Amino acid sequence: MTPTLLMCEPSRFEVSYVINPWMLGNINSSKRALAARQWGRLHRALARHAEVRLIEPVAGCPDMVFTANAGLVLGERVVLARFRHGERRGEERYFGQWFKAQGFEAVSLPPDISFEGAGDALLDRAAPIVWMGHGFRTDERAAAPIAAALAIEVVPLRLVDPRFYHLDTCLCPLARGEVLYYPAAFDSESRRRIETLVPAHARIAVGEDDARDFACNAVNLGEHLFLNRASPQLLADLGARGYRVALTPLTEFMKAGGSAKCLTLRLDEQQPQRAAAAA
Ligand code: ARG
Repeated sequence: MTPTLLMCEPSRFEVSYVINPWMLGNINSSKRALAARQWGRLHRALARHAEVRLIEPVAGCPDMVFTANAGLVLGERVVLARFRHGERRGEERYFGQWFKAQGFEAVSLPPDISFEGAGDALLDRAAPIVWMGHGFRTDERAAAPIAAALAIEVVPLRLVDPRFYHLDTCLCPLARGEVLYYPAAFDSESRRRIETLVPAHARIAVGEDDARDFACNAVNLGEHLFLNRASPQLLADLGARGYRVALTPLTEFMKAGGSAKCLTLRLDEQQPQRAAAAA
């Protein structure tokens, strides 16, 4: 089955506020034409392996390009995002309207619980679980209502490094069951949780340089991986495991604290048991 992704083209993208350390000192510094070229290149590469749907960008919602944060989709349901920061709350109604227009059954969390969608909630590809990052954006209390809404076990992981404020900046479950991640982004209990649930041969731990290059912020479609940049060692490791890595530089989006994975949202997620052999 062809995977389906949601993206938002970057005509309204800019760095106009600071809500993560990457944005600090970068107000108005992203170059519009270069951002458009980088996004276009990622879009074209992904469109060879996936059906890419687009949501209309909205003036005043510069971070709407980061569609990963719109919600978490599983089957016909989507748990809608409730952003931590007022700067992004305006996006909620546009994403909500889009999901409803597409026929998804939208679920909202209680009003005092923040949740930043697939930026902080990732389906594992080997175990029937959702990894949920919390500590910066998503509220730890989101775990139970998400588990109830989607009938799936949610494994919370506490993020401790402000540079890696969303789970998808420092962890990526891969199609063949591995987990690509930056261990220092998590507290020790969460690291232990990862080590308990993912066997040693399936853990691909990256160093700080790869983490800072957003190597974990990868889009994975079957054997294909799309990411901003990775070291020769990491590329060799992924290659030896049978993955084909395409490097798609996304410098302009990194000024806002996001890269490849953040610019996409998977729309065709199924319960993990059934999805295990799929892309
Ligand atoms: N500027 C955006 C924010 O701070 C970047 C979001 C990146 N998205 C992601 N899924 N990591 O919210």
